[in-house]
Amino acid sequence: MTVRTPRSLRRLAVGVVIASVAGVAPLALPSPAHAQTPIIVQTNAAGDNIHLIDPSTNTIVGEISGIEVNHGATSAPDGSRFYITNEVDHTLDVVDARTLEITHQVPLSGRPNNVAIRADGRRVYVAIVSAPGAVDVIDTRSMELVKSVRTAGGVHNTFITPDSKHVVAGSIAGRNLTVIDAETEEALWTLFFDAGVRPLSFETNPNGSTRRVFVQLSDFHGFAIVDFEERREVGGRIELPELPEAEQHTEFLQGSPSHGQGVTPDGTMLWLCSKVNSYVYAYSLPDLKYVGGVHVGSHPDWLTFSPDSRYVYVANAGSNSTSVVDTQTLEEVVQIPVGQVPKRVVTAIVPDVTVAGWNAAAPGSRLSSTRDALDFDFFQKEVQPIFVRKREGAARCVVCHSTRTAFRLQPLPPEGATWNPEQTRRNFQTARRMVAPGDPDASRLLLLPLAEDAGGNSFHPGGKHWTSKTDPEWQAIATWIRGSRH
Ligand code: HEC
Repeated sequence: MTVRTPRSLRRLAVGVVIASVAGVAPLALPSPAHAQTPIIVQTNAAGDNIHLIDPSTNTIVGEISGIEVNHGATSAPDGSRFYITNEVDHTLDVVDARTLEITHQVPLSGRPNNVAIRADGRRVYVAIVSAPGAVDVIDTRSMELVKSVRTAGGVHNTFITPDSKHVVAGSIAGRNLTVIDAETEEALWTLFFDAGVRPLSFETNPNGSTRRVFVQLSDFHGFAIVDFEERREVGGRIELPELPEAEQHTEFLQGSPSHGQGVTPDGTMLWLCSKVNSYVYAYSLPDLKYVGGVHVGSHPDWLTFSPDSRYVYVANAGSNSTSVVDTQTLEEVVQIPVGQVPKRVVTAIVPDVTVAGWNAAAPGSRLSSTRDALDFDFFQKEVQPIFVRKREGAARCVVCHSTRTAFRLQPLPPEGATWNPEQTRRNFQTARRMVAPGDPDASRLLLLPLAEDAGGNSFHPGGKHWTSKTDPEWQAIATWIRGSRH
């Protein structure tokens, strides 16, 4: 595939205004303009890292690591920090944009999903999905949870309206959206639907206030339209184009055939993902006329735009890639390989000097080598069969590890059958979380079932399956972890 580099991406330059006081000569010359650049922040829902893409080259220029099952992401308006929700620790993780290190973990009132930030950067709003449901309000100066606004049901996504006046929370379980006043931090109104509320986006009036909300719903391949002023659904629901059944993906839709949408920054188009079709679709605004569709990777789940509205970045959860789509020519420019099951993707504006620091700290070669270290084919042929193999006197791995446990394999297929490609891919993701790439002796997958006197852990609730590291099964997994290819 040829890589075309977007030409029209503007570098944003913010001039420094020097206040000159009459009669007093300035002590210093005006400092140079602080140039800033857009960065596409790509989360990886089944990974432990977040990729930072420079849209002027469409390459990964930085990586935040050490946040397992990262969910939502947003950034400070001045580009000084990233805020990432952490589903394992139930925290809002604050990342220093210069060092890409986690500086704070703010405890939340429950398990978080998505996150939004007010335009002034002072407040971060976290969707709390665990019952009874809330929007947690974090003060970014004190780094504390200052309020939990109760909602009718767990919240999957929080959004801030473009004028930053309202926080809007969508609930799947409660089948509603709740509008919260960003000033008083009180719920203003709730609108109920006949299905769970999924992602949404906003259209504005000429004065910047909110005009309509486009709402994706559970099990609906399209979107509903809400008049914000009238607080009710208007017009008919719009269905996305249908593809012949043979071209549809109907597995693992998670109740959401169309998930992820956005209005271009210039307000002229609405773009939506179709997981069923592996497409993104565009509608013109305000007339909502169908413009066209672009085939992307599998299970597109979320999207964001370059600030000039020219490109839409689409997270392909099923292809472990981010598609770059030209909003004018309706062509996919390139697919950028990223981490495991990429979902939320957002646009941040970051100082140029910050990005230059990442290049020095995280050369591209290191990034690509860790990403490529674990080979999928080798896993499929040599590693995965070990999980179903019967050993004398021991239960098979899969019987315990297809339920409840952290090392969760896909359910065992009926007698004789083997896991299908999608299940194999999921097993690969599960197994890779149990290993330290390149280091078999630090990998739980090898330590727990190995006898203690051979170097294994003292206890594995599933027993000891290998008496020594010379066991061919242990060796096969170790080879995979060291990064061998077939
Ligand atoms: C009799 C049931 C059983 C069998 C059989 C079994 N395990 Fe386990 N295993 C467990 C339990 C229970 C735990 C701890 C709970 C958890 O995983 O969260 C565990 C933990 C693990 C973990 C660590 C998960 C973590 O939290 O980091 C790994 C890796 C693992 N087992 C691998 C294996 C492998 C590989 C096999 C087969 C060679 C195997 N297990 C066989 C029950 C079993």
